[in-house]
Amino acid sequence: MNAPTETTGQARRTIRVDLAGRAYDIAIGPGLLDRAGELAAGLLAAPRVIIVSDQTVAPLYAARLAAAFERTGVRANTLTVPAGESSKEFAAFGQLMNDLLDQRPDRKTTLVALGGGVVGDLTGFAAAVLLRGVDFIQVPTTLLAQVDSSVGGKTGINTRHGKNLVGAFYQPRLVVIDTDMLDSLPRRELLAGYAEVAKYGLIDEPDFFTWCEENGAALLAGDAARRSHAIEQSCLAKARIVAADERETTDLRALLNLGHTFGHALEAETGFGPDLLHGESVGAGMALAFDLSARMGLCPAADAERVRRHLAEVGLPVRLRAIGGGNRRDWQAERLIDHMRGDKKAEAGRLTFVLARGIGKAFVSRDVDERVLHGLLDDAIAA
Ligand SMILES: NC(=O)c1ccc[n+]([C@@H]2O[C@H](COP(=O)([O-])OP(=O)(O)OC[C@H]3O[C@@H](n4cnc5c(N)ncnc54)[C@H](O)[C@@H]3O)[C@@H](O)[C@H]2O)c1
Ligand SMILES: [Zn+2]
Repeated sequence: MNAPTETTGQARRTIRVDLAGRAYDIAIGPGLLDRAGELAAGLLAAPRVIIVSDQTVAPLYAARLAAAFERTGVRANTLTVPAGESSKEFAAFGQLMNDLLDQRPDRKTTLVALGGGVVGDLTGFAAAVLLRGVDFIQVPTTLLAQVDSSVGGKTGINTRHGKNLVGAFYQPRLVVIDTDMLDSLPRRELLAGYAEVAKYGLIDEPDFFTWCEENGAALLAGDAARRSHAIEQSCLAKARIVAADERETTDLRALLNLGHTFGHALEAETGFGPDLLHGESVGAGMALAFDLSARMGLCPAADAERVRRHLAEVGLPVRLRAIGGGNRRDWQAERLIDHMRGDKKAEAGRLTFVLARGIGKAFVSRDVDERVLHGLLDDAIAA
């Protein structure tokens, strides 16, 4: 396995995602939005890009991004989709494909995703199938997208059967992370993305989790240096895991699903809506995964407590009663377990969890005793 390489210069850091034949750079730093044209120079098959953004992000940043391309002689048009998960529905995807074709792209046109995970997943999938495949660049604008969804090439849309069930592994040619763009992100979205940051420490980097405990609050309060450090460490971790297991054929990439089996059940129960953001569900899910590990005698109880304490301290809703948009929800263990069975991570109905032997010692488990799981959920619901 090749470790991701890094180069540093002028407050910009570059991390290479090492995939044979399709390696690409993640450029991270302040002010990179205005330098996207230079960064992409040499990667574009033709001087033509179509930027896809959403109605919240486009007014803030699309004109600057288009200007950055135009300064380097690249024609840039912008299409916008409504903000929010509904833009990943089939109908919205069809609309986007027709809007893209209205722009008369050719095989050498590059799509540029400017937005959070919704725009990234949607645009990446559009690029995978437009004219049987055109290049695309990710310009992620949420913390969640900067540390997770923009790297690794998972793209896709939603169906009535569930989220992300139609999609493709399709890697971008470049990821441009302008850390300044987080200044406009609502705090709740920042916090949700932070759960995925802490996740990397919990998977296999205990020192990084300790760093999070010491620096997480300052980072969330807006400290730019700490924010950049967290993004770099997260991208390094994700690049390393993706380079070693691009298509989740071993259990390695599956470790990125820490907290996601529980989280998915909580999201399904809250309707994948504004009551519980994806990152929030991951935070609560990681706390439950460590509790389950402790209950199964796999992990020291003190480690599970540390996880729960840190996530709660920064303000993530880790207790089930804190979830639900103020309305006390009628959680039921049986219903949550049913959602877990329907999760695409479950193989042949067999529940799959990422558990841990301690902080930084995550592993994939397919043999969780359902009675233990049921008991844990009953207790979490009553707590
Ligand atoms: N492909 C992957 O590997 C992967 C991984 C994790 C999540 N995802 C997907 O990502 C999606 C969630 O992504 P998300 O959390 O980024 O949500 P999102 O894309 O819906 O963005 C959240 C909200 O923040 C707004 N916003 C974005 N950037 C902003 C900024 N800089 N300033 C102000 N407002 C801004 C958006 O308009 C939106 O309303 C889900 O669909 C999920 O399935 C994909
Ligand atoms: Zn996630």
